[in-house]
Amino acid sequence: MKRRYAEIAGWGMYVPPRVVPNDTFVTMGLDTSDEWISSRTGIERRRVVEADEATSDMATKAAVQAMAVAGLHSGDIDLIVVATCTPDHVMPATASIVQDRLGMLNAGAMDLNAACSGFVYALATSAAQVESGRARNVLVIGADELSIYLNWQDRSTCVLFGDGAGAVVLRQANEPGIMGSTMGSDGSGAGLLTIKGASRVRASSNGTPSGSANGHEKAANGAAAADENYLTMNGPQIFRWATQIMPRAAEQVMASSGLKTEDISLFIPHQANERIMKATAKRLGLPTEKVFSNVREYGNTSAASIPIALCEALSTGRVDVGDYVVLSSFGAGLSWAALALRWSVPIPSHVAPWQPIQRQVASRMAAVRSVLRRGERSVRTRIDETLGKGEG
Ligand code: COA
Repeated sequence: MKRRYAEIAGWGMYVPPRVVPNDTFVTMGLDTSDEWISSRTGIERRRVVEADEATSDMATKAAVQAMAVAGLHSGDIDLIVVATCTPDHVMPATASIVQDRLGMLNAGAMDLNAACSGFVYALATSAAQVESGRARNVLVIGADELSIYLNWQDRSTCVLFGDGAGAVVLRQANEPGIMGSTMGSDGSGAGLLTIKGASRVRASSNGTPSGSANGHEKAANGAAAADENYLTMNGPQIFRWATQIMPRAAEQVMASSGLKTEDISLFIPHQANERIMKATAKRLGLPTEKVFSNVREYGNTSAASIPIALCEALSTGRVDVGDYVVLSSFGAGLSWAALALRWSVPIPSHVAPWQPIQRQVASRMAAVRSVLRRGERSVRTRIDETLGKGEG
């Protein structure tokens, strides 16, 4: 049987309009400076969501662009994977919310949490779905808004992160596309980078049927739980580990894909810190012009960092058909992932003027379909209730 491959056919990104430059932290009263932040991290500004903007809102906007570039209709998508560690809700999955907004009625939908490595994990997992023939087209999104989990009084963490989303559409191809990938995790380092507020915290603060806490304990634990909702990090340890794991993961995936360093046209590392990226490039023997960086503009956008970087690399002419591109990421978990690809589709120099209109029409139609489905569900519920009452 003919072998199937996966290739990226569409891409899109979204960052919130609100720009927060480094000086803002000084204005807020933090003991920091633009000079400290930019010299230690390379970050000059980041984007931050408004109060009413959720992860699914950003994810949907990036996805709409990716679908337009791919030239696919919502019914063509078989699976939606949203890589995020800041979902809209514990449940339902953010991917289901995106699925509803885009009217992707034939698509399965799931979230994937591998923190900042999430997008490369999602891309590798989705490529396997396409290569095996289980899915024809997969929408893969990386979206995070870590700003809502930052302690804005903690200068060692709040200056590092930003919000955003990036998306790609994977489709079947006759040639690779995605060439190889590697994923890894070392949970012994889980405590180095955390946002703890989920079942471990809630079980102890709310009590459970088998061991409920009394009111006083609940109040005390509730205060602790509020602290547990913040992102905490051991910066220096993460830094040391990242400079080892990012190049190692990249080397692994190059070896398994049959690529040498000199074959690589562009290396897109996770955008966390300019110094980590430089150290990684040095270890790989890559000249700086082959390493993509936009951390200056957006800070660390977690699962969105690599797809946003990919979109900007494409829109600035850094990738051409036939180029070999390597992605490498690291993050909480600890987790890491790398992926090698051969760029295979032409890059449109501009979006056709009718495309925004087509996008608007498509999303309005999806919204109308969604309202109709909700209406139908609510009528059914009322009928069930009425019949139930009648029986009683
Ligand atoms: N402004 C000014 N000073 C700051 C500061 C800030 N925003 N943040 C920390 N400092 C201070 C520290 O308190 C410390 O002060 P002290 O020496 O008086 O104790 C000093 O700067 C040095 O701190 P240190 O943490 O050793 O600095 P560093 O050179 O390691 O840089 C990071 C700190 C966070 C930039 C760096 O460790 C890093 O990037 N780590 C990786 C983080 C990361 O990528 N996380 C995401 C993973 S997905």
